[in-house]
Amino acid sequence: MRVKIVAGNWKMNNDLKASKLLAKKIAKSIKNLPLTNTRVIIAPTFVNLERVAKKVKKTAVEVAAQNMHFEKSGAFTGEISASMLKAIGVNTVILGHSERREYFLETDDLLVKKVNTALQNNMEVIFCFGEKLEDRKSGAHFNVVENQIKNALFHLDSEAWKNIVLAYEPVWAIGTGETASPEQAQEMHAFIRQLVAEKYTASLSESVSILYGGSVKPANAKEIFSKKDVDGGLIGGASLNENDFKAIIEAI
Ligand code: PGA
Repeated sequence: MRVKIVAGNWKMNNDLKASKLLAKKIAKSIKNLPLTNTRVIIAPTFVNLERVAKKVKKTAVEVAAQNMHFEKSGAFTGEISASMLKAIGVNTVILGHSERREYFLETDDLLVKKVNTALQNNMEVIFCFGEKLEDRKSGAHFNVVENQIKNALFHLDSEAWKNIVLAYEPVWAIGTGETASPEQAQEMHAFIRQLVAEKYTASLSESVSILYGGSVKPANAKEIFSKKDVDGGLIGGASLNENDFKAIIEAI
């Protein structure tokens, strides 16, 4: 059975006090939920990562980084390496988020390096991709998604895929309040799974968790998560509120 995941991407929100408080509230609120085969992950900003990781250490909540540099160390002002993350107990990193692609000009080539570095460091990657509105309107969305996945991940061997989680996030649905319909999400997720099956094997593709992201809220989570190939969500805005986040976890 594929692992289900609800991951909260806090982005550039919450100072230390707010981060610790929210992490504590989330851990407490899910304490009695039957989380069989389901993982809950939160991704605070780098500066609060260590303290939040400590706060949730003995709970069901895991932490992830929102980004990472591909080099081991050196003159890369403002950057964070894989070993720095590992040293504070962070073993999962979100890579390829559309905001990183859009505002920080991250390309497929750069993401290949980041993915490779993460995997070499035995880290798990939540790899994000998704089409823009103009791609969807022109009917290019399948092509765009196919290229994003092929360019950044299809050089990997089968073994490496044990540490890959896919996150389909149509850019037009992120932070806009507009969600892909459950049918649109399912259609794309099935397409992605087929792509992976064609490149690797059906059994490998059946084992990869594919998350949906883009304006997931308590009101729409259940319907989206009910789709066969949707294995959870990457949640932005709604992960900043413990009640909404809990309701989304309950939906899965
Ligand atoms: P959103 O963000 O839930 O606020 O749309 C999702 C994401 O960026 O991962």
